[in-house]
Amino acid sequence: MILVTGGAGYIGSHTVKELLKQGYEVVVFDNLSRGRRELLLTEQFVEGDLLDPRALETAFQGYSIRAVIHFAALTSVPESVAEPEKYYRNNVVGTLNLLDAMRRHEVALLIFSSSAAVYGDPERIPIPEDHPKRPKNPYGRTKLVMEEILADYGRGYGLRHVSLRYFNAAGSDPEGEIGEWHEPENHLIPIVLEVALGQRPYLEIYGTDYETPDGTAVRDYVHVADLARAHVLALQALEKGRKLAPAYNLGIGRGYSVREVWEVCQRVTGRTIPSRAAPRRAGDPAVLVADPRLAQQDLGWKPEFTNLEAIVVTAWRWMNSPRFGKFR
Ligand code: UFG
Repeated sequence: MILVTGGAGYIGSHTVKELLKQGYEVVVFDNLSRGRRELLLTEQFVEGDLLDPRALETAFQGYSIRAVIHFAALTSVPESVAEPEKYYRNNVVGTLNLLDAMRRHEVALLIFSSSAAVYGDPERIPIPEDHPKRPKNPYGRTKLVMEEILADYGRGYGLRHVSLRYFNAAGSDPEGEIGEWHEPENHLIPIVLEVALGQRPYLEIYGTDYETPDGTAVRDYVHVADLARAHVLALQALEKGRKLAPAYNLGIGRGYSVREVWEVCQRVTGRTIPSRAAPRRAGDPAVLVADPRLAQQDLGWKPEFTNLEAIVVTAWRWMNSPRFGKFR
């Protein structure tokens, strides 16, 4: 049985789908604070909070767990700037509680959700895993601190772990069963598409004076189904006892500016999407683009979605689906 914390969240639910497809048995642990019951794909579910050790104990006692994929965390950069305590408590203390439960129950395999936010403003692009890490916001610091703790737990307690550093997760399940759903939404692609749907008056472009070709921030958008596949590959590698790096970048290795995203969204939707320049958002690096070669080499991971248009098509389909309409 694989324990997936945060399995009712965006990347978590897509990974649960992939695990089930590959024949794994899965139990989800989620407090449903950001996750959604509608995105739960398994009946094996423990509703609980990582800050409540008794809830964790229920999960570990109730199921015979052999590995953990740990998504459950707060993930908003601007929120982490405004409320750092909440981020350190949930992302660091919560993960320590999970590690305690794993040690008590002798579970030694962990896949940890990390982030490109550990790098901060890059010195070079694309970013390899050994690039200096100077996170620009508390969210990124919670992920970096945890990566370092995991290394110590590996040395001290024999924990076998791998951190996956996601760049910008985007898109939705190509089969339309589940998809991106945050409330409130603060991610670029769904926001642009909400403007296209008339649910918001205009897109605010946060920062038009960055040192980038068009002045707007550049990100590496990677499809959530490709991220899900990377987790299964990492799990298989850990289970086989293969030697892995401590962390892998997951991105497509190509950046798109906010303006380019906006243009692609206009093309995909066939609609004019109003936009306005707005001040930079606190904690935002100018450019984040992955060098994903190590994940390709060690895990055999090759993203299927290699251009933004194809990613946006899946996001747009999900946002227009009666299924998502019913959920909201
Ligand atoms: N942006 C806008 N207008 C909006 C929303 C976003 O201009 O209304 C801009 C942001 O300022 C940023 C870019 O679009 O430059 C992407 O923003 P997102 O909020 O979609 O994503 P982030 O890059 O801020 O963060 C995401 C994840 C983080 C992760 C980070 C790593 O949400 O968890 O990617 O790349 F750390």
